[in-house]
Amino acid sequence: VSLKPFNTFGLQAMARKLVVLEDPMDAPAALEQYPDGMIIGGGSNILLSQDNYDVVLLNRIKGIQVIEENTDHVLVAAGSGVIWHELVLWAIAQGYGGLENLSLIPGTVGAAPIQNIGAYGVELKDVLEGLNYYMYEQARSSYVAVEHCQFGYRDSIFKNEWKNKGFISEVFFRLTRGQHYINSDYKALKNYLEDKDIAHPSIRQISNAVIAIRQSKLPDWNKIGNAGSFFKNPVIKDSFFESLKMDYPGIPSYPVNDRLKKIPAAWLIQEAGFKGIRFGSVGTYPLQPLVLVNYGGASASDLLHLKDTIQSAVLDIFGIELTPEVTIL
Ligand code: EPU
Repeated sequence: VSLKPFNTFGLQAMARKLVVLEDPMDAPAALEQYPDGMIIGGGSNILLSQDNYDVVLLNRIKGIQVIEENTDHVLVAAGSGVIWHELVLWAIAQGYGGLENLSLIPGTVGAAPIQNIGAYGVELKDVLEGLNYYMYEQARSSYVAVEHCQFGYRDSIFKNEWKNKGFISEVFFRLTRGQHYINSDYKALKNYLEDKDIAHPSIRQISNAVIAIRQSKLPDWNKIGNAGSFFKNPVIKDSFFESLKMDYPGIPSYPVNDRLKKIPAAWLIQEAGFKGIRFGSVGTYPLQPLVLVNYGGASASDLLHLKDTIQSAVLDIFGIELTPEVTIL
C-alpha cells in the first residue's frame, strides 16, 4: 500500500499492510496484534525516510463529546483520530474557548500531546486536562493527567520515556464557556487585529485571524508538500546570546526564563542564505524558510540532504545546532 496519501510531505513509501483503527473498542486488539506497527495520524509532522515499512496503523478514531459542564467550564473528550482543526471549529461553534489560537494546525487530536503543539501564544498543555493511554506492555489503558505528561516546548513524556510505549486513544480538554480568556499577545496576531481595528476580539475573531495569518505564510500541503516547521526554535544561554548580538545586532529573541532565550530558527536560516532556496524538487518556503517543501517528486534523501546542509551552515555561522521538530521515521 502506498503511504503517499498519508503523509503531508507527499513522499512515496510503501507499507506491507495498512490497518485502519476506527472503533476505539477494536483498537486494543489491533495494537496487541501489531505491537511494532507504526502509528500514523494526520501524517503532518513526519518524514518517512524509508522506502518500505511493515505494518502501519492509521488512526481514524472519531468522536467529540461534552462529558461535564458547569457555568464557567466544559470538559470535552475527543477521539485521537479526530482532525485537530475540526475539533477547534466544533469548539468555536459551541462557544467554547481555549483552542482558538491553535486553529488550522494540521494533524490529529492524538498527535497533539506528543509534541505539545503550540502556536500564537498558546500550547496544548494550557487546555489539556488529560488523556487515555494504552500501554502495550500492560495491555491496558490508563488515564494520564496533564501534570504527568512532562510537557515542554514541543516536548513531552511521549517523545522520551514513553516513546513507542503506548497509544493515545482519547484526549480531554478543559474549555471555557461564557467568560473566555483571550490571548492576543503574540506579535503577528496583535498586529493583525490592530490592522483590522478589532480591539476586543471574540474567540471566533481570534480563530479567523490565526487562520488568515497561517494561510498567508504557510504553504498548503495539498498543493506543496511540507510538514510545517521543520526545526525547533533553538534555546540558548543569555551569555551566548549577548556575544552573538555583537556580531548580529538585529538578531531576534524571546525570553524563555531569566537565563535562556529562544531564537527564531527562521531568522537563522534566512541569515544563512537559505530563505526561498530551491535544489531540484526541494527547498525552503519563500515566505517562511523554517518550512522545508517538496515541490513534487522529491525523495526522503533529497529532504534529508537539505536538512543536513542547513544544519551545517547554521552551525558554522552561528555555532547553533538546529534540531528537527519533524519526526523522522
Ligand atoms: N522570521 C524571519 N524570516 C522569515 C520568517 C520569520 O527572520 O522569513 C523570524 C522573525 O523574527 C519572526 C520570527 O522568525 O518574528 C517568528 O516567526 P513566526 O511568527 O512565523 O513563528 P516561528 O517561530 O517561525 C513558530 C512555530 C510554528 C507556529 C508559529 C506561530 C516552532 C518550531 N514553530 O514558528 O509552528 O505556527 O510559531 O506561533 O516553534 C509547527 O510547529 O509546525 C509550526 C508551524
